[in-house]
Amino acid sequence: MSDAIKVGFVPLSAAARGILVVFCDDGLKLGPATAKALGSAADLVKRAASAAGFKGKSGAALDILAPEGVKATRLVVIGAGKPASLKASDFLKFGGVAAGKLTAAATAMTIMAELPGGAMTSEQAVAIASGLRLRAYKFDRYKTKKKDGEEGGSRADISLAVGDAIAAKKAFAPAGHVVDGVIIARDLVNEPPNVLFPEEFARRAGQLRKLGVKIEVLDVKSMQKLGMGALLGVGQGSARPSRTVIMRWDGGKKGEAPVAFVGKGVCFDTGGISIKAAGSMEDMKGDMGGAACVVGLMHALAARKAKANVVGAIGLVENMPDGNAQRPGDIVTSMSGQTIEIINTDAEGRLVLADVLWYVAKKTKPKFMVDLATLTGAIVVALGTEHAGMFSNNDELADRLLAAGVESGEKVWRLPLGPEYDKLIDSQFADMKNTGGRHGGSITAAQFLQRFVDGTPWAHLDIAGTAMGAPKTDINQSWGSGYGVRLLDRLVADHYERK
Ligand code: BES
Ligand code: MN
Ligand code: ZN
Repeated sequence: MSDAIKVGFVPLSAAARGILVVFCDDGLKLGPATAKALGSAADLVKRAASAAGFKGKSGAALDILAPEGVKATRLVVIGAGKPASLKASDFLKFGGVAAGKLTAAATAMTIMAELPGGAMTSEQAVAIASGLRLRAYKFDRYKTKKKDGEEGGSRADISLAVGDAIAAKKAFAPAGHVVDGVIIARDLVNEPPNVLFPEEFARRAGQLRKLGVKIEVLDVKSMQKLGMGALLGVGQGSARPSRTVIMRWDGGKKGEAPVAFVGKGVCFDTGGISIKAAGSMEDMKGDMGGAACVVGLMHALAARKAKANVVGAIGLVENMPDGNAQRPGDIVTSMSGQTIEIINTDAEGRLVLADVLWYVAKKTKPKFMVDLATLTGAIVVALGTEHAGMFSNNDELADRLLAAGVESGEKVWRLPLGPEYDKLIDSQFADMKNTGGRHGGSITAAQFLQRFVDGTPWAHLDIAGTAMGAPKTDINQSWGSGYGVRLLDRLVADHYERK
């Protein structure tokens, strides 16, 4: 993994190098070690704050030349707002804000992980470290020339000054694996579709074997044998053969039912015969954001040796128009035996997921399934890029996802399911059709999926607005966001790991 940032831990009393980053609350109060490090310069901070209108709001930053007597080049004061109400995601953001202050010329930084009330906890300090790395991520594999000011490839060297360096170091490793998982997911989403097609995607998922993940790859022939006609119909117009990959991490009790994550992996979605308009079609290289998240999540869980049994399953296809492509009007038979009339070949994600969900429900009998899919443009209209849409047949699972979303900052918003919506996908020729008309497009898509979970506790996350193309944030400057890795890692850590 190429990393632009190296993070080390030092005690709060250590001397600062490079840019000094400190924290204050919304009363501009500093922690004791911070006040000591700034000495008489603390007064200057107050004056600079008032001149700049800086009030210590959470995530705001005051950037000043380091005053006399402070052994640093610049002093950055980050607001912590009301420290008592800070969540994990706030500390990630602090790390992101700090990393945003690095430049090609200024690559050394000391961050004092201290709040007015005293040293941050190890978890909080480590979240800052994670935020630094998430912010510094860049996808520049295909750039042969670096822009002005970018050359040199200088690696930032950051010291996190903490209360307990040993405890922080211990917490750093697992959190680092989760960041690695996010970066893997971002890389997959950012890759161009001529490079990342189903077989190549399956090969990359296979790299998880190194971490002890068991990998099973279903090729077209074995999917035909299983009767996965819904998934195979989507891929039949492509020169690139479809794949399904099943990943298993067995870190829990032997024989205990796993938790399962299922991802839509449409490596490119032209729409098929119901072809999309040309505008922004290139974005459809990211239509495998759900599958990317599942691979990144499996990496995170396996690398940090999560004490849980976890299944990850991804359906990998390319949706192309061709002489052999599926037509509107075709009727396909899914692995479940249910038949589907194809109305619009661009509603392909649900067809892929139908067979993978059914496969996972039947073959692995999970405690629950969570699927992630860049499924509908309608969810982007409804929720924008701030929340993923969530649909669930299980209130406990939905509530846990909601809570994990608030804590991680990868937020979800629950939308309804119901028999009135389900009716909209009944077909006059088959058991169902693959679109439900203009109204409630994200809901009818979810109703379609629900017909393939066979009563298994399940949640569907429509990540069309959050997986890619969202505005840049303090912790993500990349097109592909890696959305969902941190959310689901937290869900597993909070509820499904043996203590
Ligand atoms: N992959 C798209 C959904 C999408 C749109 C993701 C924009 C990200 C950004 C999906 O396969 C699709 O084409 N959905 C159609 C469904 C319709 C034909 C019922 C849509 O949303 O228009
Ligand atoms: Mn589509
Ligand atoms: Zn799609």
